Amino acid sequence: MWTIRRYQPSDRSAVRQLAGDTAHFGEPIERFFDAREVFLDAFATYYTDVAFNYLWMAHAEDGLLGYLMGCPDTRSQYLWFRSNVTRVAWRAATLRYPGVFTRKSLAYIWRYARLRVPSLDLAPYPAHLHINTRVDRRGQGVGTALMRAYLDQLRNENVPGVHLETSSENKIAAPWYEKLGFQLLQRTPTNLYQYSVGHTIDLLVYGMRL
Ligand SMILES: CC(C)(COP(=O)(O)OP(=O)(O)OC[C@H]1O[C@@H](n2cnc3c(N)ncnc32)[C@H](O)[C@@H]1OP(=O)(O)O)[C@@H](O)C(=O)NCCC(=O)NCCS
Repeated sequence: MWTIRRYQPSDRSAVRQLAGDTAHFGEPIERFFDAREVFLDAFATYYTDVAFNYLWMAHAEDGLLGYLMGCPDTRSQYLWFRSNVTRVAWRAATLRYPGVFTRKSLAYIWRYARLRVPSLDLAPYPAHLHINTRVDRRGQGVGTALMRAYLDQLRNENVPGVHLETSSENKIAAPWYEKLGFQLLQRTPTNLYQYSVGHTIDLLVYGMRL
């Protein structure tokens, strides 16, 4: 038995754990990056500490099964991200995180810094989301229930649209988004995950009007 509910501050470490455990196309982040805390501080903190009203949790007796991290206004998140990532980068450069200066992490940072994605007009889709479920509980309806809770919330708040970023390596997620009604807006080939995947993949942006 599991339930969908909003985030509570006591969920923070479980959310961060699952975010790290699923960051590599559903597998642990260490497949491509050894500095888990850098990734979490740079990318997850906004959702747990700022936009927590849009963070949905699936819970069972044995803990967190999945989460959906949302945000109704991507521009605010982007401004926050830009100043936060500078802080995190400074702390990383001054040796306050383990795992930054490994061959694997540096290979990813190098490619990430050189990543160029063509600009895309996301004004019709101001909200965005990230979703992940625990590896042993996928395919049991958890993701669908999380998505329903968030999309209902956005519709109630009259948000006109939502987008998300995924990739051709998220082999279950991409067709699932299309089935839910998301439309592919952009496809960009990249070698960002060359180290862990061994080939070029496509970054995909999907959008849905609400
Ligand atoms: C994508 C994801 C969030 C969906 O959550 P979920 O709890 O598995 O979702 P559901 O159980 O509601 O299933 C969603 C769909 O995926 C299918 N699916 C999920 N896991 C599957 C599996 N292991 N094998 C085959 N199909 C699977 C379901 O059958 C369902 O399809 P349907 O609607 O046609 O029946 C989850 O599978 C996941 O975390 N995957 C790995 C990480 C990932 O890709 N995250 C998205 C990042 S952009």
